[in-house]
Amino acid sequence: PSRSFSASAVRNAAINQVTVIGSGLMGAGIAQVAAQTGHKVNLVDLNDDVLKKAENSIKTSVSRVAKKQFKDDTEKGNKFIDETLTNITYMTDNNRSVATADLVIEAIIENVEIKRKLFSSLDKAAPSHTIFASNTSSLPIKDIAESTTRLDRFGGLHFFNPVPVMKLLEIIRIPETSDATYNKMVEWGKNMGKVTVTCKDTPGFIVNRLLVPYMMEALRMLERGDASARDIDTSMKLGAGYPMGPLELADYVGLDTSYYIVKGWAEKYPDNTLFENVPLLEKLIKEGKFGVKSGEGIYSYK
Ligand code: CAA
Ligand code: NAD
Repeated sequence: PSRSFSASAVRNAAINQVTVIGSGLMGAGIAQVAAQTGHKVNLVDLNDDVLKKAENSIKTSVSRVAKKQFKDDTEKGNKFIDETLTNITYMTDNNRSVATADLVIEAIIENVEIKRKLFSSLDKAAPSHTIFASNTSSLPIKDIAESTTRLDRFGGLHFFNPVPVMKLLEIIRIPETSDATYNKMVEWGKNMGKVTVTCKDTPGFIVNRLLVPYMMEALRMLERGDASARDIDTSMKLGAGYPMGPLELADYVGLDTSYYIVKGWAEKYPDNTLFENVPLLEKLIKEGKFGVKSGEGIYSYK
């Protein structure tokens, strides 16, 4: 949809003010798209250095979007950039960030205890109407939601990297999620310009339940020495039509995040061989190789 459509839709929507907690790969992207579609956004992280990095990545990304959407009209493109950037406020105070929020989306480290601690504190600070959502890749939404007293106003809003480009939004209901909450999440997803799909609260929802085992199989193939990393990636791009090979994608998602996903599943579902730990992944993490974001992963980006 064009921006004017999205922005006017937002004026009448129930969700106007959005707080995004965690300003890494995903949080910065979610905040950007929310701001692009006319929402007021608070973007929160642990310190100003991380927020500065997020601000820079948002500036670069929004310029790319403007270049594409307004290629024949620089003036409109510049207005779009300015309005988007003004819609975002950067802060480090979690509690203050949710004081007037209609929706809070959490996009911090993939660790259930840390997420629970955050939501338990936000539950006391946010107004009662505020909907809470997690962008978790792999953790049960219910396990996170149970740290709050608002299970009827809790759900999963799972975006894809890079958020400004990937059109999908998975919406996850727990049994307690009310129809009103679910309907608001669907409407908001559409206002964000995303195509929404709905999934039960199952490991990896739809996309990651299929994609993560596939990426892990590629790592196991590399570990066995069946083929080189480049040849595995070239094969899936040219032989199966994927935009990125599975190893490039693992680097792009973040090897740390991929590792937390699989480690969590391996502990929780020890009988499922698809979810087994991959020693090569653990080795790379121990060497500080987190993929594109750290400059080195399976490949080097230095
Ligand atoms: N912000 C804004 N625009 C961006 C962007 C960003 N961060 N990244 C790419 N783009 C735009 C570019 O400007 C470019 O626009 P034009 O078409 O106007 O040129 C377009 O997207 C394509 O980009 P590139 O030409 O640079 O590169 P590409 O064609 O290889 O596309 C890609 C890049 C979109 C990332 C593509 O490689 C791709 O789709 N990769 C797979 C991504 C994927 O599978 N993501 C899901 C990961 S799993 C996940 O997210 C869930 C989880 O929980 C782990
Ligand atoms: P990231 O490492 O890029 O960013 C995480 C950010 O959260 C960091 O900036 C960190 O400083 C911050 N953070 C950590 N603890 C915090 C706290 N208590 N309060 C505030 N900020 C805190 O990670 P990411 O890739 O953006 O992933 C974030 C979440 O989104 C994870 O749950 C992940 O599973 C999920 N996810 C990731 C992808 C992906 O492709 N990377 C896709 C969809 C969902």
